Amino acid sequence: HSNTFILTNICLCCPTTMNSCICLQYTEDCRAEMYPPNGPTFRGAVSWYTVDLDLPPSKRWTALITAKKTDVKMLSNLADAFVPSGRLIELVDITLPLMADTLPNPFSDEIKGIATASGIPLGEVVLFNIFYEVFTVCTSIVAEDDKGNLIHGRNLDFGLFMGWDVKNKSWIISEKLKPLVVNLDFKRNNQTVFKSTNFAGYVGMLTGIKPHMFTLTMNERFSLDGGYIGILEWILGKRDGMWMSFLTRSVLENANSYEEAKALLAQTKLLAPAYFILGGNRTGQGCIITRSRLLSIDILEIDLKLGRWYVLETNYDHWKEPLFLDDRRTPGMKCMNQTTQKNITLKTMYDVLSTKPVLNKLTTYTTLMQVSEGKLESYIRDCPNPCIVCTNHQSLSPQRCHLALFSRNT
Ligand SMILES: *[C@@H]1O[C@H](CO)[C@@H](O)[C@H](O)[C@H]1NC(C)=O
Ligand SMILES: *[C@@H]1O[C@H](CO)[C@@H](O)[C@H](O)[C@H]1NC(C)=O
Ligand SMILES: *[C@@H]1O[C@H](CO)[C@@H](O)[C@H](O)[C@H]1NC(C)=O
Ligand SMILES: *[C@@H]1O[C@H](CO)[C@@H](O)[C@H](O)[C@H]1NC(C)=O
Ligand SMILES: *[C@@H]1O[C@H](CO)[C@@H](O)[C@H](O)[C@H]1NC(C)=O
Repeated sequence: HSNTFILTNICLCCPTTMNSCICLQYTEDCRAEMYPPNGPTFRGAVSWYTVDLDLPPSKRWTALITAKKTDVKMLSNLADAFVPSGRLIELVDITLPLMADTLPNPFSDEIKGIATASGIPLGEVVLFNIFYEVFTVCTSIVAEDDKGNLIHGRNLDFGLFMGWDVKNKSWIISEKLKPLVVNLDFKRNNQTVFKSTNFAGYVGMLTGIKPHMFTLTMNERFSLDGGYIGILEWILGKRDGMWMSFLTRSVLENANSYEEAKALLAQTKLLAPAYFILGGNRTGQGCIITRSRLLSIDILEIDLKLGRWYVLETNYDHWKEPLFLDDRRTPGMKCMNQTTQKNITLKTMYDVLSTKPVLNKLTTYTTLMQVSEGKLESYIRDCPNPCIVCTNHQSLSPQRCHLALFSRNT
């Protein structure tokens, strides 16, 4: 078929014994007719909950946490996955509870409220809240259709480097997080202020919409001056940067236009680098803000005159090549280009976000947002085997190939 393309054909070879090579091949057509979501890549729908911003911060999450108590209890096990050997027990039991007090409000009180409502130790709730800042890889797209409507889609991929379950052939954390995915409607005076897709127990925002004004997603940006340094500095008492997902939350809550959101996201000092992907409500309003901790390094905007009717961000600076092992940008752009501006809708964007490796083993949820209708919808995803096509020149079975590539000890 003419749509078929070979995305990558990678070989990893051991330099001393060139006969032990593992080759990886992704082969996938741009998907079509995936919407409404169904079939093996669709795990399930996401339920809605209300967060009442008129309640004191310590009480805002109680209803949600109570409703999701069984799933939220799994957060306790997540601490083991984050810190596999249990070596950092002291960190979780002693340092992190103290850290809750150093976080700005309302986040500090909200996190304490979640610990109280769930019965999970405060240190573990803090851990859950800060480690998203470090381990999220994603794909975000803002596109403008030929009528000037802005559409924003994202896959949230989470759990890299945190353990491959050999038996289940899945990333342990990604699996545990799926039951925690919720859609939230944040209200004040009984009116929606903003909506988001989130994980129960997490107070920052990775994906959200301010209806009729703007849409926002955040993707992690890996950098030497990365998350660990800023977080360490925070623990050691140097606290002049803002947590990235607290900034996105505060922008969704307080900014009242695309321009205001853009300025806040570009100018606020952060604890770690990040990409902010922002969509507005008028033609031309869509951008990727590439951030260092201190400042905005680059803003790439939709520019119809240049033929740029969408912007797409994974986890690499748009002016650089992506890591060869993790090129989700080329297939994502290829499928966007095939779709064309004329045919882009929430439905066709779901198709793009369902194409491997944009959809992959780490993909936890897909969210689609249409600002003009104030619409946010999200879906829990799966990427059933064979999610990556593993081939090799030796006698490695596909299972061994997966293991070799993805187990923590390799
Ligand atoms: C692996 O799969 C089994 C059976 O489906 C399930 O009981 C178990 O919880 C899974 N393990 C993880 C870590 O997801
Ligand atoms: C809040 O709004 C909903 C519908 O938007 C309405 O049914 C409900 O009565 C309102 N509640 C209060 C307390 O005003
Ligand atoms: C777009 O956002 C601006 C700024 O918030 C607002 O004034 C305007 O009414 C919005 N336009 C539409 C069509 O919703
Ligand atoms: C998609 O189209 C854009 C604009 O024409 C072009 O720059 C880019 O190389 C294309 N990408 C792929 C992967 O086809
Ligand atoms: C766009 O959609 C129309 C109607 O569904 C279809 O006939 C056409 O082939 C599509 N174009 C592309 C480039 O997919």
